[in-house]
Amino acid sequence: MPSSPVRIGVVFGGASGEHAVSIRSAITVINALKEGDNQDHFEVVPVYIDQAGRWWPERIANGVLKQRQPPADESLPQPLPPAGFRSLPIDNDRVDVWFPVLHGPNGEDGTVQGLFTLMGKPFVGSGVLGSAVGMDKLAMKAAFAAAGLPQVPYVGLNAADLNHPERQNKLIARIEAELGYPCFVKPANMGSSVGISKARHRDQLLAGLQEAARHDSRLVVERGVSARELECAVRGRQQLKASVVGEISFDADWYDYDTKYTDGCSQTLIPAPLPAQVSAQVQAIALQACTAVHAYGLARVDVFYDENSGDIWLNEINTLPGFTSQSMYPMLWDASGVALPELVAQLVHTARE
Ligand SMILES: Nc1ncnc2c1ncn2[C@@H]1O[C@H](COP(=O)(O)OP(=O)(O)O)[C@@H](O)[C@H]1O
Ligand SMILES: [Mg+2]
Repeated sequence: MPSSPVRIGVVFGGASGEHAVSIRSAITVINALKEGDNQDHFEVVPVYIDQAGRWWPERIANGVLKQRQPPADESLPQPLPPAGFRSLPIDNDRVDVWFPVLHGPNGEDGTVQGLFTLMGKPFVGSGVLGSAVGMDKLAMKAAFAAAGLPQVPYVGLNAADLNHPERQNKLIARIEAELGYPCFVKPANMGSSVGISKARHRDQLLAGLQEAARHDSRLVVERGVSARELECAVRGRQQLKASVVGEISFDADWYDYDTKYTDGCSQTLIPAPLPAQVSAQVQAIALQACTAVHAYGLARVDVFYDENSGDIWLNEINTLPGFTSQSMYPMLWDASGVALPELVAQLVHTARE
């Protein structure tokens, strides 16, 4: 007797700067959940979160997927409810597994994971802890440091300290002594390189701190390194598995917002041209990074590799990495022998374990 299909609640969009990418990721995930054998095993129930954080039911979600872009406010039911989450637009009992396809704040950071946990339903990806720690660069670095993982030297600070000349001077002195120039200034909670700048001297450092402080009250400054940028995909829970290692190469000084999102500015190399022993080291670090922040289900771990010194530094973990057809995460698994339909089926399977 055929078993009834598993109903997957795919939540996408979100009140985040990465809203548009999330729509593209959701299209890829949903198509894969309907491809080949998957169509007999899964039934997709899409739920859309608009940029103001309102949750919309299937009918509106399907319209967004079809248009491949956010709806105009006028096309939504009027009067528009207040911004933010009010209640689930569908019955929780209609869903067997939730699949958040959300990037950045309000989705990748543990908030939605907390809601799913309270609703008592399995969901794809990390829980509250791994999502929250993975999102906040300061918390993430502290967890990596506690696990003894290699990172570039950094200084964490509160934006409020910039309003006290004495405290600010002390911090600048510490950054210059411990990190030097160039250094990278980042808001702790963002993504897509938003709010990040490279400082080559004190004036740029001060300007960079002001800019980063516009995005977050928690900031981090890191020693700038000149290194190749490698990425490794992870999946599984009881047993975490690492994909082949990929590389991002780009025609720019660093991988800033424009380079990330302008066609033709960056290339992905899969697998990265690396000695086997370096790939193995990156894979081992990727798995350790997941364990350090308690991430599981899926994650992409990014590292810097200095081929002159042989040093590998952990840069960051993304607990809900980009999932468009052009994204590293699905491409790394494809190159590792796990095609997209099998990948999404495995992610759901892991969530139900
Ligand atoms: N310490 C560093 N040294 C050299 N380049 C860096 C450093 N930190 C960040 N970068 C550059 O900035 C990019 C974005 O930084 P990252 O911390 O990955 O932010 P995001 O979470 O927005 O992707 C990196 O891909 C890299 O090109
Ligand atoms: Mg990054």
